Amino acid sequence: MAYVNDNFLKLQHRYLFADIAKRVAAYKEANPQADIIRLGIGDVTQPLAPAVVEAMHRAVDECASSGTFRGYGPEQGYDFLIDAIIAHDFTARGIKIERDEVFVSDGAKSDTGNIGDILSGGNIVGVTDPVYPVYVDTNTMAGREIRYIPCNEANGFMGDIPAERVDVMYLCFPNNPTGAVITREALQRWVEYARKNDTLILYDAAYEAFIQDEAIPHSIFEIDGAKECAIEFRSFSKTAGFTGVRCAYTIIPKELKVRSASGSRVGLNEIWNRRQCSKFNGASYISQRGAEAVFSAEGQKQVKATIDYYMQNAKYIREALKGYGLTVYGGENSPYIWLQTPKGIGSWEFFDVLLHKAQVVTTPGAGFGAAGEGYIRITAFGSHEGSKEAMRRIGSIVGSL
Ligand code: MLT
Repeated sequence: MAYVNDNFLKLQHRYLFADIAKRVAAYKEANPQADIIRLGIGDVTQPLAPAVVEAMHRAVDECASSGTFRGYGPEQGYDFLIDAIIAHDFTARGIKIERDEVFVSDGAKSDTGNIGDILSGGNIVGVTDPVYPVYVDTNTMAGREIRYIPCNEANGFMGDIPAERVDVMYLCFPNNPTGAVITREALQRWVEYARKNDTLILYDAAYEAFIQDEAIPHSIFEIDGAKECAIEFRSFSKTAGFTGVRCAYTIIPKELKVRSASGSRVGLNEIWNRRQCSKFNGASYISQRGAEAVFSAEGQKQVKATIDYYMQNAKYIREALKGYGLTVYGGENSPYIWLQTPKGIGSWEFFDVLLHKAQVVTTPGAGFGAAGEGYIRITAFGSHEGSKEAMRRIGSIVGSL
């Protein structure tokens, strides 16, 4: 007889964004005329950069001809993309990363979840709360114990270093969902904590391209000693509109070693490579050519213009909500705005109010963890028109709450 992995039975019935999609679909079915504005899931709305589109067209043409057709690529990604990543994202910031420390993939969501494959089920995992639900769900699936570190106004939504040790610590900055960023000093303290406690940091930097303030670190590897204790995840999804195309990458330094049951220390770079070769056939050639074009001079100009477009939405949303007397965080170095619900309304209740009375979809903070109660997340990934109209509608109902 086959047995299910019982850990799956401990999960909430639906993944957060699937749950919201279902609620919105039910509302739409009951109200087919409703003009719904979607500022819930962080999905981009602006088209791919022309440089990316041209590169992908060329890649398709290559695959259409027997002389230039590409089949299976390297599981780790093509060197043309890896070299562009290293030059642009690391060398330019004074960080030395080698080719075989970069693993190109189909998404940071899958990588931040799959990384658990190479870690013991007995590890105690720390997460900041509120948290991107993938970290909690995937570690619950593996039967790991989770410790929640509350992030709130008092600690600048950065989370205090815990007194007790954890084996693995997920950090995400700029943060999903709060939009908070971490200072260099605070990140330095996490690296010190990790080195002192033999903790592995899993650093999700999927939103680094939205950082506007020069003083904020883009990579954990800007901090001395981080290569001995951290893995970093990056993505083209939000940076370059690849939520549908799919391409991301993970950096695992060769210095990074963790304990094995026998007491010896093993390099996670090698183990992840072994895992990828057995379980993954690489991101598609066409996606990787598109991703390479993000780093071209034209590509950079174009993706920056799109990021500016979203950041204009973020500014507009922040200011409009503040103008209504509401308390907002985030949205300055991040595409996410973290709004305190008015009058202490519960976050799912406020989500329902906004959906039913304003036809605006948001994400309830409680869906990201207990510390998210009393907040909702709004994304800046909509259009200018949609963001403005959403704020107008919210403004028209806040007074009557
Ligand atoms: C989000 O809305 O939090 C993200 O879009 C989800 C994701 O990147 O998987």
